[in-house]
Amino acid sequence: MTIVSYQLEGDIGVIRLNHPPVNALSQALRLGILDAVTQAQNDASLALILICEGRTFIAGADISEFGKQPVYPSLPELLDLVEASQKPIIAAIHGTALGGGLETALACHYRCALSTAQVGLPEVKLGLLPGAGGTQRVPRLAGVKAALDLITTGTPITAAKALSMGLIDKVIEGNLLTAALDFAKEVIAQGAVLKRVRDLDVDKENSSAEFFVEFREKLSKRFRGQEAPQRIVECIEAALNKPFNEGIKIERTLFVECMQSPQSASLRHMFFAERMSSKIKGLPKGSQLKDIKRVGIIGGGTMGGGIAMNFVNVGIPVTLLEINDEALQRGKDIIAKNYAMTVNKGKLTTELAAQRQALITGTTDYNDLAEMDLVIEAVFENLDIKKQVFAKLDKVCKQGTILASNTSYQDVNLIAESTSRPQDVIGLHFFSPANVMKLLEIIRCDKTSDKVLEVSMAIAKTIKKVPVLSRVSYGFIGNRMLRQYAREAQLCLLEGSTPQDIDTVMQSFGMAMGPLAVADLAGIDIGYKAREGLTDEEKGDARTYCIADALYEMGRLGQKTGAGYYKYDPETRQRIADPVVLEVIKAQAKNKGVKRKKIDDVTILERLTFALINEGFKILEEGIAQRPSDIDVVYVFGYGFPAYRGGPMFYADTIGLEKVYQTICEFGSRYGEAFWQPAKLLKQLVAEEKTLSQWANS
Ligand code: 3HC
Ligand code: NAI
Repeated sequence: MTIVSYQLEGDIGVIRLNHPPVNALSQALRLGILDAVTQAQNDASLALILICEGRTFIAGADISEFGKQPVYPSLPELLDLVEASQKPIIAAIHGTALGGGLETALACHYRCALSTAQVGLPEVKLGLLPGAGGTQRVPRLAGVKAALDLITTGTPITAAKALSMGLIDKVIEGNLLTAALDFAKEVIAQGAVLKRVRDLDVDKENSSAEFFVEFREKLSKRFRGQEAPQRIVECIEAALNKPFNEGIKIERTLFVECMQSPQSASLRHMFFAERMSSKIKGLPKGSQLKDIKRVGIIGGGTMGGGIAMNFVNVGIPVTLLEINDEALQRGKDIIAKNYAMTVNKGKLTTELAAQRQALITGTTDYNDLAEMDLVIEAVFENLDIKKQVFAKLDKVCKQGTILASNTSYQDVNLIAESTSRPQDVIGLHFFSPANVMKLLEIIRCDKTSDKVLEVSMAIAKTIKKVPVLSRVSYGFIGNRMLRQYAREAQLCLLEGSTPQDIDTVMQSFGMAMGPLAVADLAGIDIGYKAREGLTDEEKGDARTYCIADALYEMGRLGQKTGAGYYKYDPETRQRIADPVVLEVIKAQAKNKGVKRKKIDDVTILERLTFALINEGFKILEEGIAQRPSDIDVVYVFGYGFPAYRGGPMFYADTIGLEKVYQTICEFGSRYGEAFWQPAKLLKQLVAEEKTLSQWANS
């Protein structure tokens, strides 16, 4: 296949790129463009068009080349040549012109785009900055503030917005090539002026030192712990204060620094991990999938309501079943309240919110679920109730309906056995709030059919979730690991830390929230109720939950009761340290014969993160997760683990498995081997001197 072709159409040269899936700027594509532009300098063309085949204009540099030996021509070298062309080049954009793709367009002399197109510089999401002139050209076209906003958020903008900012010259409706050819003729008629962005001056608005100080401060709050956003500001300052060629040099140096940073390596890992997680090993690709046109949801509580919103938001009607009319109304009211909040924030119109809610039909009669393509159960976390629900579904639902449970912990194999069609039963574990959280654990039971798995993966994509496959295991992937993390948080409390000590360490590490603040948010009653269903043996050592139980018994359930591990200001809902909690902790420590002693920050961090990592290894050796990167996706998208550390398993590789293993062994002798048994797989990889990613790719 020719990935770059060049043809004359009259006196206009058309350079066509065709490099599926997204026209990423691999070496072959860069060479092809270089050749075409060079060739065009000596032919009869008066102007050139750069246009792409397939679903999008260039979506950026080829991320898989990063971190490897650079190969000729580099993108900046290519773009110098493009900009220096003696014939005007017009970029014709459709789909998404992102990163190096937009930078290529900015090195052209004119830009036109379909009205449906989007442009952006998302490099920051990969721990990078635009490294091919983006930080120098955008401020020259759009000004300092707009450039900072575009590049530090990485959020793409519409063609209309790009036009209003001066990033593109024309928005096109209809056929892109035809309109681009017309535009090229206009350019020729006006003397084929070479508009080079490098020759423009940067507008001096928003150029004061105070403006930059303030902007940097805002960024450090918004992107806590991340390096790339601050480097971007440096580049924009250079665009403002230095000639183009010097600015470009600074951009290049900082780009290379960012690319070599562990943060960028982690974020690039997450980019591919997110795309990999929807792939099921051993399943044939591309079979015909049935459409999910109607969805039934059982239980309109915290989860059911949120789950329903996911489907109606993409136009799929939902039938919501509750135990009685009162419960049904309560569920609908919660959904209405959620939509009202979105409308108030200006993110949705009142009309759209009403349209979406109109897609929800309430019922208390199981017969109304007969024609559903998918039913998701979200009733109380009780195995017997869930089995009864599934037995009823088995009776009423048509053949082929996918029967899913949103259970957090129950054995979905046992639930499947209460039906005559276990091949159609699956777990779809959403996270709270279900209309917001991106993660969806897809639980494969022993008898779940391949088809049901495939359709479930496709549904996840339809409702814009990031799916991860898990086998049945207590707590599946995420909650099973969380249990070990929470265990260490509880033990640190008992042995000498305060809730603030632990939360501060974990927040500084980059977690969205510390574990005790999370417990207060989710409700201390959740863990308590989950433990109620367990035997003493299953509950484990009482030291790992006695403080939580004591708070529960005092009615301190967390934010909803105004107090838990912290107390909460009734007006501002701000967290405040509470001396009462310290007394509770001390009393429990005394009760358990534990002598409290302050624990240093490094130990807190290692105890919590290594507990996660060790359980992650066990999950892998048991085949519960398909691959280490899936566990990273679970933790980044479901539990607020910092993406710039690449998820717990990638982080383990970053620290070195030897160090993780040795520390776990040391913890075993210090805190008890009952808690700290290194996973067999971890031990094996250390013995083989392998990294986890080498193991995953072998
Ligand atoms: N490099 C390498 N591979 C890429 C890629 C890129 N820039 N962008 C996408 N891909 C691959 C994906 O890994 C995926 O591969 P797979 O099929 O084997 O899983 C395939 O292309 C399709 O990608 P998506 O599944 O993401 O397809 P969508 O249609 O959902 O989304 C997209 C398309 C919006 C273009 C999305 O892929 C995307 O956001 N891509 C990344 C864009 C980006 O970050 N660009 C900046 C790169 S850094 C840069 O340009 C540096 C420069 O400043 C020097
Ligand atoms: P909830 O208590 O808020 O809602 C449960 C709803 O189910 C109630 O409205 C109840 O009236 C209804 N219900 C009970 N029995 C029913 C039956 N037989 N038929 C129809 N409706 C019935 O519970 P929540 O939090 O929504 O949890 C539901 C499920 O989701 C549980 O399995 C839970 O483990 C799981 N889950 C909960 C998460 C959370 O953070 N709350 C997160 C992920 C999963």
